[in-house]
Amino acid sequence: MIFDCQRGKCGLCAVGIIETDGQIDHRDVFFSEEEKHENKRMCACVSRLASGKAVIDTGYRI
Ligand code: FES
Repeated sequence: MIFDCQRGKCGLCAVGIIETDGQIDHRDVFFSEEEKHENKRMCACVSRLASGKAVIDTGYRI
């Protein structure tokens, strides 16, 4: 995973959320409140899964 700021500002670490039955604790300032509510992407450097499970797509391919 690529990253830069590690503070939730740049968005380089953003991963796709394929599915989740839990709650994402979005701690970044990169995504808008609307984007955070959609739970389709998260900044992995600062955001967390607060409950449940999630399948994420890091974009990394072998
Ligand atoms: S590394 Fe910049 S938002 Fe995560």
